[in-house]
Amino acid sequence: MKKSRILGTGHYVPENVVTNEDLLKRLNTSDEWIQQRTGVRERRFCPPNTKPSEIAHKAILKALEASGLQETDIDFIICTTQTPEHFFPGTGCYIQQRLGIPGVPALDVRDQCTGFLYGLSVADAYIRLGQYQKILLVSTEIHSTGLEWSDHGRHVSVLFGDGAAAVILGESEGEEHGIIDVDLHADGSFADELCLSAPGTAYDPWISHEMIDQGLHYPKMNGKVVFKEAVSCITRVSKTILKENQMSVEDLDYFIPHQANMRITEAVVKITGMNPEKVDNSIQKYGNCASASVPIALDEAVRDGRIQSGDTVLMATFASGFTWGAALMKW
Ligand code: UT7
Repeated sequence: MKKSRILGTGHYVPENVVTNEDLLKRLNTSDEWIQQRTGVRERRFCPPNTKPSEIAHKAILKALEASGLQETDIDFIICTTQTPEHFFPGTGCYIQQRLGIPGVPALDVRDQCTGFLYGLSVADAYIRLGQYQKILLVSTEIHSTGLEWSDHGRHVSVLFGDGAAAVILGESEGEEHGIIDVDLHADGSFADELCLSAPGTAYDPWISHEMIDQGLHYPKMNGKVVFKEAVSCITRVSKTILKENQMSVEDLDYFIPHQANMRITEAVVKITGMNPEKVDNSIQKYGNCASASVPIALDEAVRDGRIQSGDTVLMATFASGFTWGAALMKW
């Protein structure tokens, strides 16, 4: 059986650093509240009129360079986002246009912060089947233009940042490197606990002045339910994927949990008994970049040497849906 591996990684975050102090200009909040409850110190916001496909493209060029490949080597595109460029077509098509590779299939994955792992599982399956050889998996998010700057939305608005990251997947030459397993889940009974409901075809018409007056175009979150389920699901899926592959937390060289709240990560680390020094906490400088969070953290850790060849890496996420999952790989 063939095995897939990540051949190269890249990420891009906008230059504009927005600190917690900066948010005080538009929000009734405090640096102390944000840091204590979430761990976030700063995030990046794109300049006006930046497109998700634009920041994705910058991340992709770095991933191509790292893998020694060119645009024309890509034979399948998977784009993950919870902040699509438009209702339709999919953001993957805009990315394909920027890459100048017409004809290459472009699939959009809509599993929010778990999107990267859902996309990884699709790419892994295609490569193992031999259907595609060089798959681009890119996650891109621009939250800054859609956040609610009022007391009503402040528990959500302080969390999110903008950013993109890409990986190129191909067949692994040997047994020792590559994706070992991906374990995915969803539970739609929690769909309304974390959502952005309008515009949407659940309404007739899709969009109206009333919806905007009611703020339905802003993300809505039941923070306490999300927090509790995130800790429980990330813990459970992490333990399960390790057990099913005859491993334990002691075998892990690096753990990248979804960067939603540092308190969620701390709880997971405590319950599972992981070594906190081997756990990523890039939320402090980037906030929650949804599906781009895990691949941004992955690229940084690879580039600065926290992840070395042969390391065992676990990634685990939780998101709106609810969806959650984990992936285990040998770097
Ligand atoms: O990728 C998506 C996944 N998302 C997550 O995983 C997020 C999970 N949830 C959380 O991380 C937490 O629920 C939050 C950090 C979002 C919120 O923390 P919380 O402890 O659940 O706060 P809360 O919303 O219950 O609010 C507690 C208090 C309230 O004041 P009162 O009613 O106690 O006087 C809020 O009005 O904190 C107030 N508050 C704020 N104060 C200052 C809420 N947001 C803010 C704020 N600044 N930004």
